[in-house]
Amino acid sequence: MKTKLEQLKTEFLELVEKVTDRQNLERLQTEFLGRKGKLNEVMKDMVELAVEERKLVGKLANEVKEAIEQAFHFQEQKMSQSEVMGQAEREWIDITQPGSFSSEGHLHPVTQAIGEITDIFSHIGFTAVRVPEIDWDYYAFESLNMPKDHPARDDWETFFVDAPEGSGEKEGKLLLTPHTSNSQVRTMETQKPPIRMINIGRCYRRQIDISHVPMFHQFEGLMIDKGVSVTHLKGVLDYFAQTYFGSNRRTRLRPHHFRFTEPSFEVDITCEVCGGNDDGTCRLCKAGWLELGGAGMVHPNVIKAGGLDPDVYTGFAFGWGVERTLMMREGIKIDDIRILYKNDLRFVNQF
Ligand code: PHE
Repeated sequence: MKTKLEQLKTEFLELVEKVTDRQNLERLQTEFLGRKGKLNEVMKDMVELAVEERKLVGKLANEVKEAIEQAFHFQEQKMSQSEVMGQAEREWIDITQPGSFSSEGHLHPVTQAIGEITDIFSHIGFTAVRVPEIDWDYYAFESLNMPKDHPARDDWETFFVDAPEGSGEKEGKLLLTPHTSNSQVRTMETQKPPIRMINIGRCYRRQIDISHVPMFHQFEGLMIDKGVSVTHLKGVLDYFAQTYFGSNRRTRLRPHHFRFTEPSFEVDITCEVCGGNDDGTCRLCKAGWLELGGAGMVHPNVIKAGGLDPDVYTGFAFGWGVERTLMMREGIKIDDIRILYKNDLRFVNQF
């Protein structure tokens, strides 16, 4: 029996060194030490031994068992070590490599322009206001000296909301604001003169082509005080044009007609695409000028609608398109306004 036990030990020690994976290692372990394993097989014969002998053999059997277990653990440890080493070989990192950065977004060029324009006007005391962009007919048209069914209202090609009409004196049909001029009376109702406000908001019109999109932005300026004249208007417009576009761009006022200003003007600026030298081929402008929007001295009826006395107060207002203003900016040559809203990152990321 003793020899058998010694043999078992040697056999195991020889075999265990050759094992290279955990599965076979465990199988080997059960083969020798398991309930029906080789060691127990040998021990079956123990009963036939004399008591003295049995003690000795029992002791030896324990030693063999311990030796086998030790060899098993040793081999197991060797395996995990080489596993870790192998992993280190396979999965190394170069800590001196520059890190990878997640890309940062930025504001849309139109949002940037809105911020810049607001800032420019804030320097001369124009405070930003917000008014509804879904508003009553009264504020968008009627209070602006355009009675119901006045043909001039067709010029705005308005989207009306499919909702019940408001029955209040200052309500009417509900619409998507086709211009920012609804802020004129709304501001006069809530502020006392002197008023200097700038309102930048979304406008909606039923039109789409190379220089129109159905949703665009306007900025509306309004100044109401005693003794305000066209000179002040011209001064403010020039200040803006020079600050935003640079001194090489030229502006002009053309006589025009709006129901809510008198006199009224159209503000033009030299075209950036052709540099103001259109020979009839410029994709964007007509004859070198691009129309930014309207301006004029606030009509006495509008001042009245705002709850103020037109004999005491006068004022000017202007309403320009933000997108057009941006497109006419020095160094930016955009020849189709629709690209601003195509969500093409190749375009947007240039700003
Ligand atoms: N609201 C006018 C438009 O959309 C522009 C304008 C604003 C004209 C203020 C005069 C005064 O065309």
